[in-house]
Amino acid sequence: MTSSDLWDEETAAAYDDASAQMFAPDVLDPAVSFLAGLAGDGPALEFAIGTGRVAVPLAARGVPVSGIELSQPMVDQLRRRASARELPVAVGDMATTVVPGRFALVYVVWNSISNLRTQDEQVECFRNAARHLSPGGRFVVELWVPGIRRFPPGQAAVPFAVSDRHVGFDTFDMVTQQGTSHHYRRLDDGSARYAASNFRYIWPAECDLMARLAGLALERRVADWSGAPFTSDSESHVSVWRKPLDASDQD
Ligand SMILES: C[S@@+](CC[C@H](N)C(=O)[O-])C[C@H]1O[C@@H](n2cnc3c(N)ncnc32)[C@H](O)[C@@H]1O
Repeated sequence: MTSSDLWDEETAAAYDDASAQMFAPDVLDPAVSFLAGLAGDGPALEFAIGTGRVAVPLAARGVPVSGIELSQPMVDQLRRRASARELPVAVGDMATTVVPGRFALVYVVWNSISNLRTQDEQVECFRNAARHLSPGGRFVVELWVPGIRRFPPGQAAVPFAVSDRHVGFDTFDMVTQQGTSHHYRRLDDGSARYAASNFRYIWPAECDLMARLAGLALERRVADWSGAPFTSDSESHVSVWRKPLDASDQD
């Protein structure tokens, strides 16, 4: 049983178009290059692989890639790009699902680890990553830094999109680290559609502690896939934790 929202058929069918900016070469190519550089000959495992936005171009670079994904409709979309032989995917929860083999690289991108909405599940996700790594292998997380510094006292929401077609804002519960992204989209007929997604935000330091609990050590933290330095003003991070070379290759 997972706390994650289950992405339905309608969301999956609209995903690639709605995320078009994340498929743009200037966004995607640095991510794929960064991951390919760490994977070497691979293999690599993507948690929350979605429709294969990152996995398909990474596999095209010659890295054997597998995935774990909670939503069958998202996997159905991925199957339009890559067969099960080219890109095997297990449908299940990234905190608990185990696939055969050991990997040089396990990664989870575009904030997807925060779809797990309890600290326990996030800790289990780090453990699951470590379980799948070969000794010396790396776990990479791309995650935003919670935008809580934008909160003036008393304000309940942080806007992230304000246009005539889309108003989006996040609300946060500081006690439980739960958040909700709210989206109001204006449709062509002038009506509005509301959608929301839920998440648990995590600070980089909390990630490091989760990694340590899983037996992994921080190797590198940068602000983005191009390798920009991570500073106190960074709004995202790409973090790389490594499994020790002398770790036993056991569960
Ligand atoms: C923002 S999308 C990212 C998809 C893909 N990695 C990408 O970068 O385009 C988040 C994905 O996380 C998946 N997801 C959410 N909770 C999950 C869980 N507990 N285990 C595995 N996948 C999960 C969703 O179904 C969705 O496909």
